[in-house]
Amino acid sequence: TDIPALKTFLAGDFEIGAAVGRAQLLGNHAQLLNRHFDSITAGNAMKWDATEPTEGTYTWTDADAIVNYARTNGMRLRGHTLVWHNQTPAWVFQNASGGPLTDSAADKAILLTRLENHIRAVAGRYAADVDHWDVANEVIDENQPDGLRRSDWYTIAGLDYLRTAFRVAREVAPNAKLFINDYNTNVTTKRDKLYALVAQLRAEGVPIDGVGHQMHVNIDWPSVSETEAMLHKFIPLGVDQQITEMDVSVYTNGSESLPAIPQERLIKQADRYRDLFALYRRYRDDISSVTLWGLADDDTWLSTFPIARLEAPLLFDTRLQAKPAYWGIVDPSRVT
Ligand code: G3I
Repeated sequence: TDIPALKTFLAGDFEIGAAVGRAQLLGNHAQLLNRHFDSITAGNAMKWDATEPTEGTYTWTDADAIVNYARTNGMRLRGHTLVWHNQTPAWVFQNASGGPLTDSAADKAILLTRLENHIRAVAGRYAADVDHWDVANEVIDENQPDGLRRSDWYTIAGLDYLRTAFRVAREVAPNAKLFINDYNTNVTTKRDKLYALVAQLRAEGVPIDGVGHQMHVNIDWPSVSETEAMLHKFIPLGVDQQITEMDVSVYTNGSESLPAIPQERLIKQADRYRDLFALYRRYRDDISSVTLWGLADDDTWLSTFPIARLEAPLLFDTRLQAKPAYWGIVDPSRVT
């Protein structure tokens, strides 16, 4: 492991993070994590289904382990995520008899109280530790005229769920930067809907400090110029920006599956990491951190989504060795 530490190479540009679970906090994984990264995100442990599976009953074991790890190792911590349409238990959207909450004023009040209680508990517990919260995740649907995803949150409470979430997060975690996070923000129609929402809410005084770009991309898509347009777009808002969930799939469609990954694709992947990190570094004044959605190729969500297949979207391989992708960032002349 006589190779440059990513966090040293990128010092002065932005923090470099990885999404982790308990498995990444042990042994060789922890060694790799500590050597290269100065920020971590809980890949699942802080989500609603993990922290409040039944109303008012909180389970902190996994989230606490990650928070304590960050503290012990002097790493920054991104909290992920307080309000989302996935990984949220069914009870959140149900009335006392198990039926669905409606958009009536009474049901809306029930939902917003649950949201407030949840955020008070989770963001309050970690107020001294979490530097950046993904308060709201994936709220945009660019195919809706108003750009807002028709989640249970939205259909029951309208935009008030976002107003409540950011207000309460600010109140209980006043030192955390509060983010709205989404995928495909490089797609013009989606990016523009997100921009309009953030502009509207900030004009109302809703405390949104930053925009998170997930950047789940692949070896062919998106182009650097589309990605640059994404970053450029949000500068007039005066918000912080972060790359929050980056990985680069070796596949360019949802159905292909290879028994082994050709070297040629790993080289293309290295070129993507090279070009996108070069772009991020040019925007260092606007980007405060870049997080990879995983530590190494032995544990990536893409090996089960959209289908089960061999994947290799990260910087380190299944044996935790640096891949061409790593060299694409640190020293492109060593990509082979
Ligand atoms: O923990 C259970 C385990 O008890 C059970 O036996 C097993 C069988 O299915 O499932 C385990 O839960 C899985 C969980 O990850 C923890 O590993 C879920 O099935 C699986 O669906 C879940 O996937 C997560 C996904 O979000 C679900 O929404 C991924 O790990 C996680 O990386 C992914 O992260 C999201 C971000 O939060 C938001 N942006 C997109 C990103 C990728 O989908």
